[in-house]
Amino acid sequence: MRKVAYFAVGIAMTGLLATATLASGQPETTSPIKARQEAMKTVKEHFVPLVKMVKGAAPFDAATVKKNAEVITRKLEEASKLFPEGSDTGKTRARPEIWLLEDEFQTLFKTAIAKAKALARVNEASQLAPAVMELGGKGCKACHEKFRTAKDKKM
Ligand code: HEC
Repeated sequence: MRKVAYFAVGIAMTGLLATATLASGQPETTSPIKARQEAMKTVKEHFVPLVKMVKGAAPFDAATVKKNAEVITRKLEEASKLFPEGSDTGKTRARPEIWLLEDEFQTLFKTAIAKAKALARVNEASQLAPAVMELGGKGCKACHEKFRTAKDKKM
């Protein structure tokens, strides 16, 4: 009887461990560095067409603006959670300041997300340029200047 009980506990523990591994999100092999870089890449892919619209290289299209701005919003939200302690080394351009000035870094994410949400509400061509500039300047650029290393300095 006792043996059976131990066995059952063993099984239960194994189950718990497996659940814990799953609940922690990614298996050990998926690095947060890779994941946030992928998220940022998707942000860029959805931002570039809107910059083209501003430049007149593509016609204004409110539906595309909304759709792309929504993807940008979602991916920035995702990226903001992919800078855990200890993910400052390896193939990353994240500066160590991110973990020293965490509040400031997260505030910049919040600002960028708010700007992306505002961009999603643009429905007239005349509103596009200012909204894109706000996101690009106070969002992407502000954060990259302070918290991302220059391209040649791959650490
Ligand atoms: C709050 C900070 C922050 C904001 C806002 C932000 N980024 Fe980034 N971005 C980073 C950091 C930090 C990295 C470097 C990540 C790494 O290498 O680990 C990065 C990396 C990137 C990369 C390179 C990804 C790769 O393949 O390595 C692109 C492209 C990018 N960002 C585009 C954008 C665009 C476009 C916006 C605005 C719409 C934006 N980012 C907003 C912090 C930010």
